[in-house]
Amino acid sequence: MLEPLTHIGRDAATGGYVRDAWSPADMELREWFAGEAGRRGLDLREDRNGNLWAWWGDPSRSPGVVTGSHLDSVRQGGAYDGPLGVVSAFAALDLLRERGVTPGRPLGVVCFTDEEGARFGVPCMGSRLLTGAIGPERALALTDDEGDTLADVLARAGRRPEWAGRDDETLAGVGAFVELHVEQGRGLAAHGRPVGVAAAIWPHGRWRFDFRGRADHAGTTRLADRDDPMLPFARMVLATRAAAERRGVVATVGKVRVRPGNANAVPGHVAAWLDARGAEEDDVRALVAELAEGHEVSEESWTPVVGFDPALRDRLARVAGGGTPAPVLPTGAGHDAGILAAAGVPAGMLFVRNPTGVSHSPEEHAERADCEAGVVALADVLEDLCR
Ligand code: GLV
Ligand code: MN
Ligand code: MN
Repeated sequence: MLEPLTHIGRDAATGGYVRDAWSPADMELREWFAGEAGRRGLDLREDRNGNLWAWWGDPSRSPGVVTGSHLDSVRQGGAYDGPLGVVSAFAALDLLRERGVTPGRPLGVVCFTDEEGARFGVPCMGSRLLTGAIGPERALALTDDEGDTLADVLARAGRRPEWAGRDDETLAGVGAFVELHVEQGRGLAAHGRPVGVAAAIWPHGRWRFDFRGRADHAGTTRLADRDDPMLPFARMVLATRAAAERRGVVATVGKVRVRPGNANAVPGHVAAWLDARGAEEDDVRALVAELAEGHEVSEESWTPVVGFDPALRDRLARVAGGGTPAPVLPTGAGHDAGILAAAGVPAGMLFVRNPTGVSHSPEEHAERADCEAGVVALADVLEDLCR
């Protein structure tokens, strides 16, 4: 089932995927989702925020059990982050039907929109809007690299931006949510197990730093006369690494925009994005405060720590472990399951072993047998929760 997706949004030069929300690649993936829902006779709905839901049963009659993930990607991402959870959701549903299971509750497959925030900067946009974790005014005004707002982009995609925002009717249909995801670390490889369960998601956020100077000629401007924003930017990158080591957190400067971007000009403006995460919120906050000192900084997103529902977590570990409880692992990666959990939805996650741990990269990989073990575990979990 992953096979038909392999060409969509793939950069032939690198093998990486570029699947920004609402891009032609994303639209093709959404079509694929609709097709998979249709082939299974599921009731397809798009909510007010662009999230796609495929229902077996009617969630307006009683809250259902939902599984799924996202189909967008980071730029130059791998094939599994997101799609594995959506494909496994459909595959688990097929397995339940093969087993002759008739769920006692509605069963839904979801594809959340713009999980990575690759285009507008804020991750988990679909689930944040759905739950009200971000307000529509702020979300719709966010701009992409072309300067188009989310409102412009939604309107161009034939959507109704004025409908965006917290959607209690859709949320009421979600009695529980289980997201399967490729692991983004080597925890399961170390345990020698194909499937694990998420314990918690580290607090994390993104901050934009703006360094302003004066663009000038690279050949004729004396060093003493320059106001070069690249220098404070470079100091900030080195300070980030040092502070992260000192404070026991992770922090990354993975995106930078230099204007005007001429090899033969001193830049006039550098914008850089800091991503910082850690087990303890106070450590992450202290790192950002230290780095921000004396700079122009704005917070683009912040997600507090998420501890998944302990009863559901233990139930998932027991059912997904097939005899021996599945390992329970914390993660530094953000997920829609975390946004739903923070909004009070009982939520949990299954992880599928990633032999190298590499993710957000074309090198991301999971073995076919492990993916199949993930589907079986997910089907077992859904069968259990739908009783
Ligand atoms: C999601 O992939 C994240 O950046 O945590
Ligand atoms: Mn990701
Ligand atoms: Mn993901």
